[in-house]
Amino acid sequence: MRGKFITLEGIDGAGKSTHLRWIARFLKGRRIKVTVTREPGGTAFGETLRRLLLGGRQRLHPETETLLVFAARREHLDKVIAPALGAGRWVLCDRFTDATYAYQSGGSRVRWGRVGALERWVQRGLQPDLTILFDVSLAVARRRAGRKIRPDRFERERDAYFERVRKAYLRRHREDPRRVRVIEAGRGMAEIRKELEPLLLKLCP
Ligand code: TYD
Repeated sequence: MRGKFITLEGIDGAGKSTHLRWIARFLKGRRIKVTVTREPGGTAFGETLRRLLLGGRQRLHPETETLLVFAARREHLDKVIAPALGAGRWVLCDRFTDATYAYQSGGSRVRWGRVGALERWVQRGLQPDLTILFDVSLAVARRRAGRKIRPDRFERERDAYFERVRKAYLRRHREDPRRVRVIEAGRGMAEIRKELEPLLLKLCP
């Protein structure tokens, strides 16, 4: 039987990585074989691209970034995600296409429809079975990152950018509420896990 494809999303500081580890353990505890991967990344090419993109040595045009993350996604789907799903493994992916809508379109203002065109090209109808969007306010994300209460001009610009990223994520939820489930991530772990469990169990055979 085909495995399930789960992606995790949220602005930086939403606690995604901690929840990812817990979800992987939870699934393994139910004897599900899990492949954990991430974007940008997941293949040797993807990891090289990740270093280039996040290393920040060169300022790339946001559309260049968009094209590059989709090029890496094509490899990732072909070499890692599709084979794992075909072998009955579940794939747990730290960020996927919704991140491109959020960061490149929401944050950096690439036209929404351009991301959609690449999504259709590269994914050919394949969508995650479940996307968990960990949503937090900017104030909580900032507090978690240990930043100052009173932001300077640079930080205010940064906040405005992340506010657009967050809004774009929520738009993805509105466009496909059945797939993209929002978890209010400003709360304690125990409460969040109580909401994650039924979402995951619903996918189990
Ligand atoms: P993240 O996954 O949060 O890793 P870490 O916790 O190690 O920082 O960071 C990945 C960054 O890549 C994040 O800032 C969002 C960005 N990103 C895009 O801009 N577009 C994309 O399509 C993807 C997948 C990620």
